Amino acid sequence: MSIKEENKNPAEIAAKLIPIYIMGKRYEVPEGLTIMKAMEYAGYKFIRGCGCRGGTCGACGTVYRKPGDYKLQVALACQKTVEPDMYMAQIPFFPANRAQYGFAGLTSAPEEVFKLYPELFRCVACNACTKACPQGIEVMDAIAALKQGNIAEAARLSFDCIQCGLCTSRCFGELAQYHMFQLARRIYGARIVPRAEHLAGMVKAVNEGRYDRFLDELKQAKEDELKKLYQEREAEPMVAGEDWKPKDTRYL
Ligand code: SF4
Ligand code: SF4
Ligand code: FES
Repeated sequence: MSIKEENKNPAEIAAKLIPIYIMGKRYEVPEGLTIMKAMEYAGYKFIRGCGCRGGTCGACGTVYRKPGDYKLQVALACQKTVEPDMYMAQIPFFPANRAQYGFAGLTSAPEEVFKLYPELFRCVACNACTKACPQGIEVMDAIAALKQGNIAEAARLSFDCIQCGLCTSRCFGELAQYHMFQLARRIYGARIVPRAEHLAGMVKAVNEGRYDRFLDELKQAKEDELKKLYQEREAEPMVAGEDWKPKDTRYL
């Protein structure tokens, strides 16, 4: 076994190697790896362009082409597995216009978005953004909702946006969709959605010191006790009715 092979795990040795091209250079990597792992296998070390490795931070946008295919494809490097003869490059950051605003002074009026992002109306409805989105967001529809002044709908449609910028990289109208969506979700959360009364009640109870005694107990607990408390805590079931309560109600 060569020194290079000794450094690999058994699964890598067993896997079939396939050719890929990273920024124009050819490498052979085990099939089945994600683009990110394949790049690391090829010797790349991620300083930027890698965060969660779980498809949620949006840091690993990648563009690639396959032989004989005129289409430029996009993907998240931590999610997409390599295919033979992919040509790829990463775009961990995509320059995009981000409006400056003081949120405290913003209202829920649609004009707030129009003023901050007038380029919204440059959208030519080509749908390239939707096709690029690794989260399956109906990006063009969310943009259309903003144009129609429906901030709540734009916030709902864009809820799963991870700010990867891949939509922006393909936009004919030079829109920074993800910054617009972030503004929409901020306005929706702060100005449109009704306040949660139980949350206000809980904040008041915390401020009035209702939980001070329990917090003090936790602060004084030894590490082992804390670990035990954490491991034995009762979690709310995935599906629970509104009237669900833990068995231990001392902290309610
Ligand atoms: S809407 Fe744009 S920035 Fe958000 S996840 Fe989709 S492609 Fe990425
Ligand atoms: S890519 Fe740009 S121009 Fe095309 S539909 Fe999306 S937002 Fe509009
Ligand atoms: S590393 Fe976070 S989405 Fe890929």
